[in-house]
Amino acid sequence: MYKEFRSTGFLETISNTSPEAWGEHFKQSKGLSRYQKMAFTLDERWKWIRSYLPKKSRILDAGCGAGEWVDFLNINGYQAEGLDYSKDLINKLKEHKPQYHWYNGNILDIPIENNEFDGIISWGVIEHDEKGPLEAIKEFHRILKNGGMAIVTVPHDCKATRKASEMMFPQKKVKDSGGHFFQYYIEVGELKKLFEDCGFKVHLSKSIGGPSLALVSPGIYKKVLNWGPIFRMMNLLVKLIGPRSKEYDHNILCVAEKI
Ligand SMILES: C[S@@+](CC[C@H](N)C(=O)[O-])C[C@H]1O[C@@H](n2cnc3c(N)ncnc32)[C@H](O)[C@@H]1O
Repeated sequence: MYKEFRSTGFLETISNTSPEAWGEHFKQSKGLSRYQKMAFTLDERWKWIRSYLPKKSRILDAGCGAGEWVDFLNINGYQAEGLDYSKDLINKLKEHKPQYHWYNGNILDIPIENNEFDGIISWGVIEHDEKGPLEAIKEFHRILKNGGMAIVTVPHDCKATRKASEMMFPQKKVKDSGGHFFQYYIEVGELKKLFEDCGFKVHLSKSIGGPSLALVSPGIYKKVLNWGPIFRMMNLLVKLIGPRSKEYDHNILCVAEKI
């Protein structure tokens, strides 16, 4: 696992991984947009959710952020609920989407009884504990029913991400500007083993996501990050015509069954 630190100087809204910092990060979010709905429909994660979890399944989005996936899954016939440790995010979600269940809680101690859910999804959450993702995966196992499915993504540890991280968050800068542990990058085999060690049968463990500007050219990414529409266009261009290699997949997906 590759440990990444982030300096307070570069990404202003996320200087660490506290509930407050995440609340701030997602403050402007207005919920599921039409663009997101379309993007989720084409997203590989949606394909695996549909393959492994029948409609009406009760699914927890652990670390739901702005709650868009909870909304998307409910619209598509699932009973999805959201959990996040940011009180601000959960309060906002309770106000704007009172028809769904929202929990303010930590994935390391989920406020839910044993064997309750058919599925858990969790995108980009379990890598944010400096002690590692094992305790969170044990909690996922506890609240799933037997045969329930965990579908989880984490950042992909490969040469390109290490290079991008070292370039964007150099240790010297981190030390000078009071940086913090931010997240782990994890290898495909490592994530599979973590799930197996917690009593899961792993059905699928693979890299996903395709090329992004941050991985293909971290130098240019850093330069154009604040250029708004130009940044978005460049990113899209790299996605469409960038190199098709596992090396540039920025996430790993694990689909695992509680046995
Ligand atoms: C990278 S964001 C991902 C949000 C969302 N899953 C998405 O894909 O848009 C990480 C989210 O996990 C939440 N989070 C991080 N650590 C957590 C923990 N230990 N318990 C509960 N939520 C946590 C943060 O508040 C944040 O909303």
